[in-house]
Amino acid sequence: MGRLATVSDTLRARLRALPDFPDDLPKFDPATAPADPVELFLSWFEAALAAGVRQPHAFSLATVGAGPGAGAPSSRMLILKDLDDDGWQFATARTSRKGRELAANPQAAMNFYWSQLGRQVRLVGPVVELSAEASAQDWAARPAADAAPNPAWQLYALRPSEIEFWQASADRRHIRHRYDLPG
Ligand SMILES: Cc1cc2nc3c(=O)[nH]c(=O)nc-3n(C[C@H](O)[C@H](O)[C@H](O)COP(=O)(O)O)c2cc1C
Repeated sequence: MGRLATVSDTLRARLRALPDFPDDLPKFDPATAPADPVELFLSWFEAALAAGVRQPHAFSLATVGAGPGAGAPSSRMLILKDLDDDGWQFATARTSRKGRELAANPQAAMNFYWSQLGRQVRLVGPVVELSAEASAQDWAARPAADAAPNPAWQLYALRPSEIEFWQASADRRHIRHRYDLPG
């Protein structure tokens, strides 16, 4: 057996040995869930903060390119900047890979995961660019704000057509609760 095969066997054994979901996770009963998914998200977000989740505002953003390599997804972590009637907001450079992919194909998927609570929230929907003014304000409000404005900096909003809340359970009877949002 070659060295790589041995390493892989060891890794596989170690991965299998890692603990699954613990038995002290919160319970979630979709029957008691609010009609408004934003309300549910905010209550889960507060619970994540209270549970000491580090960077509970971090999520993975998946985009899909057009042009050469069209159809191949790419993803990366971002920070949620705001959540209001404009949508679920995040900011990045329009010149980045995700910026270019969003320009070509303005749809994305977001995924939040709060491991301490065994909770995942998934969203899918179209993405719009917010105003140059709002983008400049976001750039200026960054913790280590650069003095110079960044004309490539863009505030975006995802307007979900679908949101799924997922609660893990130690007995593997995981709970899903999905909202389909018109328009
Ligand atoms: C927790 C976390 C939060 C991040 N937040 C942002 C963000 O809000 N905006 C951003 O442009 N990049 C952020 N990044 C960096 C991105 O993940 C990514 O590396 C970068 O934006 C380039 O992505 P792209 O080449 O796919 O466009 C963050 C990374 C991590 C790990």
